[in-house]
Amino acid sequence: MQESNRQQELGRLLLQKSPDELESLIHQSAVLMTYYRCAVLEIETKFKVLDAQFSLSHERNPIESIHTRIKSPESIREKLNRKHLPMTVEAIEDNINDIGGVRVICSFLDDIYMLSDCLLQQDDVRLIAKKDYIKNPKPNGYRSLHLIVEIPIFLYNEKRMVRVEVQLRTIAMQSWANLEHRLRYKKNLSPEVLAQTEDTLLACAVMSNQLDEQMQSIRRIIEDDSQ
Ligand code: GTP
Ligand code: MG
Repeated sequence: MQESNRQQELGRLLLQKSPDELESLIHQSAVLMTYYRCAVLEIETKFKVLDAQFSLSHERNPIESIHTRIKSPESIREKLNRKHLPMTVEAIEDNINDIGGVRVICSFLDDIYMLSDCLLQQDDVRLIAKKDYIKNPKPNGYRSLHLIVEIPIFLYNEKRMVRVEVQLRTIAMQSWANLEHRLRYKKNLSPEVLAQTEDTLLACAVMSNQLDEQMQSIRRIIEDDSQ
């Protein structure tokens, strides 16, 4: 559907609702977004705790940086449309797993798996899905470890299970994905431009993987030597 038609359709649907119904809809979505914000905070804190504890015992930080985001209402609407789902709180909760997102940028490849194992061992974290695009990169060269996890958040009168998407990657993976995203991801490029750029992007991904593997092996040599 065209964007202008979508806006008109949304306007028409909203006009069918009474002021009370509208107010309740706005309230429900604000509450829902608060749940995701809390869950993202919880996951971010878990990683910060792991980083702090690891730096005490190993004198180095496995995490370079952590970025969090809540999916915009526009992207939620676009994903619901794409999946032919209604715009309801239930449809969002049951089908969209990446409203809350946490991206963890790690120093080394090994740190990604160490941090993911530590997170998944915690007894309040339930793994819903895992996509290992490091062991199995996407055809364009994209690498990252993706986890969908469910954690409890404790509100003053209830406990709710909330899903969060966690992406773990190295600095090299992050810089490749950032640039690829800016250049091509989800853009409607012509088949000619796609063909012209895909080999070079893949070659860059292979180089970035070599960088990760070599940095990892340098660290192993240094660690073995200092034991
Ligand atoms: P989305 O509908 O985009 O959420 O994808 P999905 O539900 O099929 O999940 P997937 O795990 O494949 O990708 C989720 C997220 O990973 C995306 O929203 C991006 O942040 C990132 N991602 C996946 N593939 C690529 C890629 O080829 N390039 C870049 N730059 N990022 C990617
Ligand atoms: Mg997504």
